[in-house]
Amino acid sequence: MPNNQIPAPIEGSPVFGALESLRIKQLEEQSAALRNSVICAFNQLLDLKDLNTGVHSTRLAEWGMRVGQELGLEEAELQNLEVAALLHDIGKVGIPDSILRKPGRLEPEEYSLMKKHSEYGWAVLRMLPGFERAALDILHHHESFDGKGYPAGLKGAEIPVVSRIVCVIDAFDAMVSSRPYRKGLPFEEAVRRLNESSGTQFDPEVVQSFLSFAEAEMSPVFAAAGTSVSSAL
Ligand SMILES: [Fe+2]
Repeated sequence: MPNNQIPAPIEGSPVFGALESLRIKQLEEQSAALRNSVICAFNQLLDLKDLNTGVHSTRLAEWGMRVGQELGLEEAELQNLEVAALLHDIGKVGIPDSILRKPGRLEPEEYSLMKKHSEYGWAVLRMLPGFERAALDILHHHESFDGKGYPAGLKGAEIPVVSRIVCVIDAFDAMVSSRPYRKGLPFEEAVRRLNESSGTQFDPEVVQSFLSFAEAEMSPVFAAAGTSVSSAL
């Protein structure tokens, strides 16, 4: 036990209440610090694999938290949402670069392998105490609202709400972001596509919540992530 650790108080002693709440606070702080360290370490791993992914994930966390708060998610769910938004594609570390960086269309067998990334992410994160729920949210971030997604083909409310949020903002961010081989879509076209697939691929409530602030908040969100809105729109 570290020297600065507050010892467990003896029940019934005069200082029991005060010491116990101090001890709980200290444990909570330690667990939050550990959680942040894990997020940072995995984020660095994502940066090593593909520099753009880290920035992409930071943007998703900003947007995700806004949507989550608007939909009234509880604090514990918001924490899972932050992890899932930041680390949803961590499983891509297990996908060969020849597939990840292929500029053209993927062959069917390449696409099958690419789809494994959500299971890979789940398999890694579920090993970490405190990350089990976020691991499940990551497992389902490519489910489709109409049940045609993967890996489980879950439908509507069967899909965890955090996964439904990550799905929408991930798709939107991918649409507006420029890649070496293609320019990002204009904001209006990305909005049109989100609306078009609302109710089929995407949860309509999440789409509506996201679009209610997307345009107004686009510049500050891109600035917070260290990019400029003009490079993405
Ligand atoms: Fe993904």
